[in-house]
Amino acid sequence: MGKILAIETSCDDLSVCIYENGQVLSLCTASQVQAHQPYGGIVPEIASREHLATISQTVTLALAQACCQMSELAAVAATYAPGLVGSILVGLNFAKALSLSLNIPLLGVHHIEAHLLSPCLEHSPQFPALGLVLSGGHTHLYQINSIEKYQLLGHTVDDAIGEAFDKVAKLMGLPYPGGPWIDKLSQKGNPKKFVFTHPQIKDHSLHVSYSGLKTAAQNYWKNLEPNEQNQADLAASFQHCAIAIIQKMIEQAVAKTHLQQILVSGGVACNSYLRNMLQVLMEQKGIRYFIPSPKYCTDNAAMVAYVAHYYLKQGYTSSYDIDAMANKNLTDGETAFANIKI
Ligand code: KG4
Ligand code: ZN
Repeated sequence: MGKILAIETSCDDLSVCIYENGQVLSLCTASQVQAHQPYGGIVPEIASREHLATISQTVTLALAQACCQMSELAAVAATYAPGLVGSILVGLNFAKALSLSLNIPLLGVHHIEAHLLSPCLEHSPQFPALGLVLSGGHTHLYQINSIEKYQLLGHTVDDAIGEAFDKVAKLMGLPYPGGPWIDKLSQKGNPKKFVFTHPQIKDHSLHVSYSGLKTAAQNYWKNLEPNEQNQADLAASFQHCAIAIIQKMIEQAVAKTHLQQILVSGGVACNSYLRNMLQVLMEQKGIRYFIPSPKYCTDNAAMVAYVAHYYLKQGYTSSYDIDAMANKNLTDGETAFANIKI
């Protein structure tokens, strides 16, 4: 089918991948962590300006690392939704320009579909299966009937899990993004030191909530001496509950759907405590899990390329009318919204 150049700019990281028939030939990601760190979170205006400054050189680097000439490209793909509109526009417009000038198909990719299917870059799960996206903006559980056919089973009713990790880290004075810091600090902490109660969501067993955990952490922290052991104990206790909520969500989804396989993705899928929990679930309850390597968990263009490759193979392409969208649900029957059959 030829080589695909994929671009991901839904949030703060800019990532470019060259992909061919199931193989990632190169993956170059320009991180913006340092640009946003002084603000303790992502500043959308800075994110899009940084994308503009780095996109050309990152594309050139990805092509060089894959030993690929522009003329060898068969298609170009970019994230079109959901995310920060200013950031998405940079990647999407770059992709449109490349597609027009090289006269090759354009494919708009849904960011959540890309996360959801990212385990397929390294594994071959069978569908139907459960799919769980755990990121800075999403805590969404789907039933994946097949690629293209998704059904939302449950989601957070307030903060996303990654957002909760970041907020708890921030209140303890840790740098942004806080998830990896909580993960690391927790290894020296006591997960039973502070009690976090499981939020109960009325009438819906597959929804979860994280804002109460963040408030509880805030209340504990303001009465503690701000030293490293207290940080580690609070981090470990928070993480223990945050991951136990996911464990319960998975167990209830398995009980409800009788599906024994789950694809787990998104930045929080890097978390070592979560990965241990999944291993224990598999050993004790026989629930098979598929999880990407950390480089494919956080935002990356390889997962965008995987989805684009699939749609291209099915004969889809996108029109130049596709626009960046801040919000767009990945609901049944609408997944190919950006793409039209040719
Ligand atoms: O998927 P992602 O890169 O971007 C979004 O689409 O949101 O996820 C970023 C989130 C951040 O909240 C970050 O703190 C979290 O993933 N994260 C982690 C870990 N690594 C990244 N959370 C917990 N443990 C980690 N090791
Ligand atoms: Zn993401």
